[in-house]
Amino acid sequence: MSKSDSTGKFKRAKLRHKLFTLGPDFLLRGRLRERHLKNEIALRHFAVHLPRWRSELGTLRIGHLSDLHFGDLMPPERVAEIVDALRDRNLDLIAFTGDAVDLEWRGIERFFELLASVPAPLGHVMVLGNHDHLDDADAVIEAARAHGITVLMDEVATIALPDGGIIRVGGVDWTKRLGECSDRISMISEQLSEEDRPIDLLLSHNPKGFIEATRQGIPLTLAGHTHGGQVALKGRPDRNLAVAHRLSAGFYEREGSALFVTTGVGSWFPLRVHCPPEVVVLEVSQGDWVEPDPESHSDVQP
Ligand SMILES: [Fe+2]
Repeated sequence: MSKSDSTGKFKRAKLRHKLFTLGPDFLLRGRLRERHLKNEIALRHFAVHLPRWRSELGTLRIGHLSDLHFGDLMPPERVAEIVDALRDRNLDLIAFTGDAVDLEWRGIERFFELLASVPAPLGHVMVLGNHDHLDDADAVIEAARAHGITVLMDEVATIALPDGGIIRVGGVDWTKRLGECSDRISMISEQLSEEDRPIDLLLSHNPKGFIEATRQGIPLTLAGHTHGGQVALKGRPDRNLAVAHRLSAGFYEREGSALFVTTGVGSWFPLRVHCPPEVVVLEVSQGDWVEPDPESHSDVQP
């Protein structure tokens, strides 16, 4: 038994998995899972213009993945398909915003190995999600770091750019509560000297991080967690079953700061309606904010 096996959260998550995934799938003789795994993965490309983006950063191509949920609904062959969708996209940086695992962490090493094999000259960065904490968060962190992925646990990575400049990428560990999420973002901002603020790019599994990110003047926050509710109205990804989340899918802009909440690639129950699993490329540059065109929800251009 792993050290977290006895925790209430892990037990409740396993029970939920039985009720919402294993039970219904058994009753439908495996057809539910089979059909779910046939959902096509959407490859989405957005040009994002941000007023607060430092001009010295130029244009940055970020591959954004989230909520893999490796487990019964995310078998190894599906993992390989997802990571392959990011290959040959001419990326500068790859950002993973948490929930690598669904329940047990064992077997996740292959995902990190594959992800690290996708070329990205500025590196591979990630944060943990709530599911990464269920079994053994330390094991997840170790598996990622073993493949050279930078796991940001309430810290800021300073990454050198080819032209001699730097980009500051911050990341906060999972927390459900808004106040704690805000405190962590404020704390990592204060790790930097005043002239080095704000952080250029923030990763936060919880989209609530955007509230403090806006206060700190952080140009772009990437988040996941909501899965876009997994069930949305046709053509309205923001009108979805994630009713507990005000920031549930797509782009949000406040006071010159922007948030992107991806609907993720994995699932915690075997159903997605008008909310396909998505792999995202964000091409970020300085400019006046314009809501990225939903029509650009299309195949990623290399
Ligand atoms: Fe998730």
